[in-house]
Amino acid sequence: MFLSLVLLGLCICFIILQLRPRRPKNFPPGPPVLPILGNLLHLNPQNPLEDLEKLRKSYGNVYSLFLGPKPIVVINGVKAMKEAMVIKAAEFAGRPQDTIVNDVFDVKGVILADYGTSWREHRRFALMTLRNFGLGKKSMEDRIHDEIQHTIKTLDESIGRTLCPQVMFHNVASNIICQVLFGTRYEYDDEFVTTIIQCVTEITKIFNGPWAMLYDCLPFIRNLPLPFNKAFKNIKRSSDLVLRLLNEHKNTRTPGEPRDFLDCYLDEMEKKAEDSSFSEDKLIFTALDLLFAGTDTTSNTLLTAFLYLMNHPHIQEQCQQEIDQVLEGKDQACFDDRHQMPYMQAVIHESQRIANTVSLSIFHCTTKDTELAGYSIPKGMMIVQNLSTVLKEEGQWKYPHEFNPDNFLNDQGEFVKPDAFIPFSAGPRMCLGEGLARMELFLIMVTLLRKFKFIWPEDAGKPDYTPIFGVTLTPKPYPMKVQHRL
Ligand code: HEM
Repeated sequence: MFLSLVLLGLCICFIILQLRPRRPKNFPPGPPVLPILGNLLHLNPQNPLEDLEKLRKSYGNVYSLFLGPKPIVVINGVKAMKEAMVIKAAEFAGRPQDTIVNDVFDVKGVILADYGTSWREHRRFALMTLRNFGLGKKSMEDRIHDEIQHTIKTLDESIGRTLCPQVMFHNVASNIICQVLFGTRYEYDDEFVTTIIQCVTEITKIFNGPWAMLYDCLPFIRNLPLPFNKAFKNIKRSSDLVLRLLNEHKNTRTPGEPRDFLDCYLDEMEKKAEDSSFSEDKLIFTALDLLFAGTDTTSNTLLTAFLYLMNHPHIQEQCQQEIDQVLEGKDQACFDDRHQMPYMQAVIHESQRIANTVSLSIFHCTTKDTELAGYSIPKGMMIVQNLSTVLKEEGQWKYPHEFNPDNFLNDQGEFVKPDAFIPFSAGPRMCLGEGLARMELFLIMVTLLRKFKFIWPEDAGKPDYTPIFGVTLTPKPYPMKVQHRL
């Protein structure tokens, strides 16, 4: 009896060991893999960034991990990142298609579309439309300035009081993108905005949580009534709201005279052949992509910038001196003024570097068998770009681990942008909202710093700079005081 039990135990151990995922020949190295769990125990699901950094130190700039049975390759440091994203661009430009994120967004707009015709056409169209909004009757700069007036009003009403700037910065970023997409802005308590924010918050919470990991690792649980189903319900609610706006647009538009992104797309659909990749479904999901991608990223960068500026008052004052000097006699800043403001430019870029907003980028996937840093990587492999390791890479920055605008200034005080500045990623998939985001950051920061002094409240204690991990890194909620300057 005893012998039978021992034999049974040995058999089970043997089967489990056989089930243990193995690294293929010449695959990037990584930590030992457990059966079923893979390397899940190596990662803190609340914030894996520190664990990923430890693994980089042990296994180098290109290493592999198993999320359950599924292998992924993690890329670190500017050299490997550029080899993959720029030199071997097309080979690393896919998006994984077998994750919860992809199943939730079942129609693909731009962000989650795999490398191919539909992605290319939608990306080109979105880039062109965002650019054209800078040439139309009302320029993109005017739209941004209009929205900044609402932020100024909020700050004016908060003089002498302590405010929490989260909602204010979220509002300015989401309203700028809503103006572009739907030709309208929303008050914070508007049903459209509150529902979308609620949906996005819940969806990202699920994507970052353990249920998403289980969904990705264990395909047989996907049809069960488990908490991840909420993400599917929320995406339906969001897309229904955009569908409602789309139907309103269809009833009120004049073809050839687009008022916003939705109208432009409808015009384009009419021009395209029947078999084109353009469709109303894709329009809804492209609009959601731009709304989701363009809101938290910009607002979290602004939140980080003001958190640091309040706690580095000498840097804030130096920005204000430069702004006063360059804008003397002018009503408002324009984007071209940045060329006369090297210090301000350095502060904005340094804020983006420190904010490290989309720290793990958006997951890529190889489109064919390829090589990276001498390792073999098969087609269809999920690729994680750890942008943090580039934005804080020793040897690339004068002060990799501190907030210091000198990281972007040369000895003559001129603005310089090191190669390792890639918060928008690099290569064919790099952020398509970069131009808009840079314009927003410059106009918002310059306009607000010109008018107000931002103060860390005396009773707020020491600032906590550690961000909350998620699809985007978010500063912990903090208080702010404002005074008029002029
Ligand atoms: C400071 C603000 C922003 C940061 C740091 C940021 C960063 C990023 C990053 C790291 C990616 C992933 C690139 C890759 O997969 O290699 C990305 C993709 C993307 N971003 Fe941004 N982003 C910002 C603002 C915006 C804005 C304002 C918009 C919308 C107008 C936008 C739209 C997109 C889209 C559509 C993609 C997907 C591109 C593709 O798959 O081809 N982003 N962004």
